[in-house]
Amino acid sequence: MLLVTGATGLNGQLAVREFARNGSPARALVRDCAKARAAGLDRLAGIELVEADMRRAATLGAALAGVERVLMISGAAPDMAETQCTFIDACKAAGVRHIIKFSGSEPGSDPTRFRFTRMHEEIEDYLEGSGLAWTHLRPSQFMQVYLREAHDIATTGTLRLPFEDIALSPVDAADIARVAYLLLRDGGHEGESLEMTGPEALTMDDIAGHISTAIGTTVAYVRITPDERRRELLARGLPAYFVDALDEQTEERLKNPVAKVLAATHRMFGVRPTSFIEFLQRHAAAFSGKPT
Ligand SMILES: NC(=O)c1ccc[n+]([C@@H]2O[C@H](COP(=O)([O-])OP(=O)(O)OC[C@H]3O[C@@H](n4cnc5c(N)ncnc54)[C@H](OP(=O)(O)O)[C@@H]3O)[C@@H](O)[C@H]2O)c1
Repeated sequence: MLLVTGATGLNGQLAVREFARNGSPARALVRDCAKARAAGLDRLAGIELVEADMRRAATLGAALAGVERVLMISGAAPDMAETQCTFIDACKAAGVRHIIKFSGSEPGSDPTRFRFTRMHEEIEDYLEGSGLAWTHLRPSQFMQVYLREAHDIATTGTLRLPFEDIALSPVDAADIARVAYLLLRDGGHEGESLEMTGPEALTMDDIAGHISTAIGTTVAYVRITPDERRRELLARGLPAYFVDALDEQTEERLKNPVAKVLAATHRMFGVRPTSFIEFLQRHAAAFSGKPT
């Protein structure tokens, strides 16, 4: 049996949908079955939903029964390391053989300076010391992060970010899901760390230009300071912890103006890298302010 956790979230859901689309059976661990049903996961052929909490070993019996390999995902939250390390212990006790850790990286920057890359490294170390077979899937920034800006873009015609003239190489979460599906289905790649970025290094001027082309209206990149960004995110209602984390990430990114493009994982799994333009074409309605 193959298990995907975090199945109501962005990446877990895409991975589970990839299993269903390919007619491959899998189990999906969800914290709340009602939320999973609202997302339509209960209607996916071949997908078995099991409710459990990764942080509470006592709830994990049915989710881990007969499982050989797991794609381990939980969200960027203050308890991410505790959640995943508890879950690794439970996997070991239940006889799981191989954990594919959905990790994260900012190629070229210091992982210790941003709390989520720091936590991902802690979890990777813990998993490597567990005696289980492991693979780390390490994507860079998701293209989907720009959907958070879609409302502002649609209402103001501006993309307001504190990234000066640095470049980033965002990757489409749909590409990651295709790789994650193949990795979980077929196994192998034990003891490997698989970095993934998108196919192009893009400045925010490039990104605003691509959005303008996709929606047929000019979108201007407005350089704001990290303090302005902070105030705007807090005003949007984001939790202070998460805003602090993004501050750390921005500080680190500004030290590394050139983005790496790492295409080896896409190539190894035969997944064609989605360009930012292609991603925008799929999501043009959101960036135009139309209901999706
Ligand atoms: N943002 C980026 O650009 C980026 C780049 C690279 C890597 N990453 C990493 O990617 C990972 C996944 O991100 P994502 O966007 O897919 O996350 P997400 O959409 O926030 O989803 C997280 C999922 O984990 C589940 N979860 C959290 N705690 C749980 C628990 N105790 N028991 C069971 N399920 C639990 C959530 O369930 P509920 O729905 O019930 O809350 C949700 O399904 C994160 O670790 C992040 O650090 C992010």
